[in-house]
Amino acid sequence: MNKNLIIFEKEETSQEIIKSYLAEIPDITIEKIFTEYPAGVKYAKENKPKLAIFAMTSDKTASFKMIKRLADFGINVLVLSEDYTTANIIQTLRYGAKDFVSKPIIKNEFIQSVKKCLAEEVRTMKKSQIISVYSNKGGVGKTVVATNLAVELARLTREKVLLIDLNLPIGDVTTFLDVKPSVNICEIANERAVENVKGACRQYKNSSLYVLAEPPYMEQSKMLTASQVVKLFDAVRDLFAYIVIDMGTNIDKANITILEESDVILLVTVVNLPLIRNCQRCLALFANYNIPADKTKILINRYLDNDEITTEDVEKALNKKVYWKIPNNYYTIMSSINKGIPVSEVNENSNITESFSQLASTLIENLFEKELS
Ligand SMILES: Nc1ncnc2c1ncn2[C@@H]1O[C@H](COP(=O)(O)OP(=O)(O)O)[C@@H](O)[C@H]1O
Ligand SMILES: [Mg+2]
Repeated sequence: MNKNLIIFEKEETSQEIIKSYLAEIPDITIEKIFTEYPAGVKYAKENKPKLAIFAMTSDKTASFKMIKRLADFGINVLVLSEDYTTANIIQTLRYGAKDFVSKPIIKNEFIQSVKKCLAEEVRTMKKSQIISVYSNKGGVGKTVVATNLAVELARLTREKVLLIDLNLPIGDVTTFLDVKPSVNICEIANERAVENVKGACRQYKNSSLYVLAEPPYMEQSKMLTASQVVKLFDAVRDLFAYIVIDMGTNIDKANITILEESDVILLVTVVNLPLIRNCQRCLALFANYNIPADKTKILINRYLDNDEITTEDVEKALNKKVYWKIPNNYYTIMSSINKGIPVSEVNENSNITESFSQLASTLIENLFEKELS
């Protein structure tokens, strides 16, 4: 079995530590150590070692690009980095790294990881994750959740995120983010040509977030059919790492298709009896359509700590754990909606911005856990 490896590491002391730890693993060959990373990537392409141990540099973007190239060559990449925040770990994995070890290196952890990376074949990650935001009632906060979650996903990962307004015929994502698209989603879905779809997705300010929505109040605006939904998703899947859907309230064929195609469904509710009953009905209906139960996550919006109905009451009624709670924050939300900006732009430090930011990172983490299990 090929047990050849190369090392990307600029610091000499760190190189020495890595070499001394590797000396404890039998039968491996260190082919080369690179301080000039591009030369290492070129070498890897030609020589195809089994493993590349890659110490991230301060230039993260360049590091991610190289990790991706190495993974694309079919080389297992073990990333070392001082930044072991969830966001960084997840990003390295998304770019195709096989494993992640934090610096300063802990010997046992490192040796175990090297052994694992030498043993396994390269795993390929799914290209994109679809997150749908649903409720069969209006006014519960679907659009608030979908837009702010999409903004936070883009901020956190810096990867391309697409927010699609499928609350047809008249959605309001364009108002919430003050964007001015000029497309007819139905036509786009029919054509499916990737270039057309790409052109129709509007970049949101200078971020990695894109928005696909119809111009508001277009009279000829129609609903999508189930087959148009599939076509649309096929076209955008390869272009974006995360796709967030603001859905309509109907339970029709098109919406069921969206739910089936999604990796996660955020079922939004507010804590009051009629809405919780509705939620129960939704869950029963999803079960009828054989939508896996673990795909649906309950999100309570407008949460108040001192509410008469507690989270435990909700969980009992739904026979399901509550996944997330977005606090009630009338002032920040109204200011955000009236100005057409996400809550993070109204107040970076508000409890609601914090909640959306944590929701984004928890969701990504859970999606990865699911994929890796
Ligand atoms: N977390 C929140 N705190 C306070 N008010 C909220 C919150 N989320 C939503 N709202 C209010 O609820 C209204 C409806 O939200 P929206 O996202 O448009 O619902 P939907 O898309 O489900 O119809 C908003 O205009 C806002 O006034
Ligand atoms: Mg809405």
